[in-house]
Amino acid sequence: MCGIIGYLGYREAYPILINGLKKLEYRGYDSSGIAIFYKNGYSLCKTKGRVYELERKIYYDKVKISGTTGIGHTRWATHGVPNDINAHPHVSNSNDLIMIHNGIIENYHAIKIILSKNGFTFKSKTDTEVLINFIEFLRKENKFSLEEAVRISLNEIVGAYSIAVVDKYYPDKIIIAKLGSPLALGINEKEFFIASDPIPFVDYTNNALYLKDGEMAILKKGKELDLRKIVDNHKLHPIIKKLKINLKQIEKGKYKYFMLKEIHEQPKTILDTLRGRLLISECGMIYIDGIESNKDIFINAKCITIVACGTSWHASLIGEYLLEEFARIPVEVEYASEFRYRNPIIGKKNVIIVISQSGETADTLSALKLAKKKGAFVFGICNVVGSSIARIVDAGAYTHAGPEIGVASTKSFTAQITVLVLLALKIGKYRSTINDYRYKCLCQELRSIPEKIDHVLKTDNSIREISKIYHNVNNFLYLGRGINFPVALEGALKLKEISYIHAEGYPAAEMKHGPIALIDENMPVVIIAIKKGFYDKIVGNIQEIKARKGKVIAIVNEGDIQVSMLADHVIKIPYLSEELSPLVTVIPLQLLAYQIACIRGENVDQPRNLAKSVTVE
Ligand code: AGP
Ligand code: GLU
Repeated sequence: MCGIIGYLGYREAYPILINGLKKLEYRGYDSSGIAIFYKNGYSLCKTKGRVYELERKIYYDKVKISGTTGIGHTRWATHGVPNDINAHPHVSNSNDLIMIHNGIIENYHAIKIILSKNGFTFKSKTDTEVLINFIEFLRKENKFSLEEAVRISLNEIVGAYSIAVVDKYYPDKIIIAKLGSPLALGINEKEFFIASDPIPFVDYTNNALYLKDGEMAILKKGKELDLRKIVDNHKLHPIIKKLKINLKQIEKGKYKYFMLKEIHEQPKTILDTLRGRLLISECGMIYIDGIESNKDIFINAKCITIVACGTSWHASLIGEYLLEEFARIPVEVEYASEFRYRNPIIGKKNVIIVISQSGETADTLSALKLAKKKGAFVFGICNVVGSSIARIVDAGAYTHAGPEIGVASTKSFTAQITVLVLLALKIGKYRSTINDYRYKCLCQELRSIPEKIDHVLKTDNSIREISKIYHNVNNFLYLGRGINFPVALEGALKLKEISYIHAEGYPAAEMKHGPIALIDENMPVVIIAIKKGFYDKIVGNIQEIKARKGKVIAIVNEGDIQVSMLADHVIKIPYLSEELSPLVTVIPLQLLAYQIACIRGENVDQPRNLAKSVTVE
């Protein structure tokens, strides 16, 4: 996620760029920059922070901003912390080529090694700087035109991108290309507008073309659009559409709230989190930088403690099941707020994992500092690159979920679980506590999760019907067993925090130790009843609930018969391994909470009393 923008025409580029970047900030920003081109040269300014800080820097540094060709970028870092050097645009070694990029180049590391061996140097830690130098390398080595060098390079890289590239000696030309990240083109008679979405140019034109994956375009001043296929350079006929968009809505796309958009983004964000880490081509090889470089610490770990808050704490509980199942390492899960005040017995031999979407949660940050002070090795799983927690841990792995705007965490939760699955499998492989066949099957199945989630997202209408029946109740119970007990906790938290209905999650077997006293016809019970080892026990739980007139909403596997005959409502999910099931069983619970909150007319994205990042104790 981030924003790219560009202009090629007869107007002054600067105002179009800077105002466009401000409109794209909702897509994520940790730094921003622009480049404006004039004959045989360009001005470039970039800085960490918000776009207004870029504007201020341009003013105080007296950056030359006249020119009718320009590109700009707001960054959501994936490689390299947010700072001035890692901000875009990035420049090739010769200083001739300038690029902005939205996305992730998975195989940048291997390309960087080849380029380094050919004398290239790098100022930043980004994958983008590798790509622009790869283009330069190909052009120089083969005397390619810029467009040919861009096209060939894109056929060699693995990853997602929307890019714009300019050669300073040809300021009347911009090359753009797209795969996996959005790229819209606004077209007027003598000018082109480039942007991640049409917001920045809709005031100038409503003639737009959305590049499709695998397409590139050569934009030349005063010339017709030249649209090509990246794979074979085949010339394409551009289909230009008339835009009819409501500006406000475009940020959320077709969704009423960011939370719903983020629930629906999960197939993509899981794919992005797997990108470059689950290499099926090498029969399921898992590569996580932070693990490889600390292999022995994990192999010899006597115990792992996972520390987090809220939804991240629920992900931690799932991590406990995964690590104990695959890596056979004892795991403890701690609320960060409890851990930090308990004077925990930890030292150099301890491995601590801290999980935090924002990377700024005060309790988790304090727990991390305490663990470090006591000499423990700390591994972080964060979503925000360069966040406070991400900067302090000894090693880590980012979730690539993109900016999560909704206060209720959804896509970050499944991205955290995805990293935990990779971690547990990788460490289990190192410790030979998982056999090769099971390892490969799980790696293959992990690849299929986005498709399974897509399938479940289609149950939204039936979930809305269920929500209409139960949106006025005062209490909910959520039950799950095994690795789906934390999912029950997460489902209850989602409902609580956005609909303000009291909800509790319990291990299903715990019901008879108290909560069953609450069951009556006014108590809906959501129960995760997938076909696993304890399925018969779950059937028993449901019968106990029904015997007391409780209402049952069951999450079942497709083809389920027994529970489907007993429950009042069923939501079906595809069959999958128990260990991976939380990635999918949580989806209906997210949608249920969302639909109930909407029917109750609550502000789903900004629920009362809550903040997206709890930076106070
Ligand atoms: C979850 O929906 C809530 N927003 C909250 O519990 C959150 O998970 C918690 O505050 C931890 O935040 P973090 O992951 O950014 O550390
Ligand atoms: N992967 C690039 C970087 O980390 C681009 C990230 C983005 O899409 O903003 O700089």
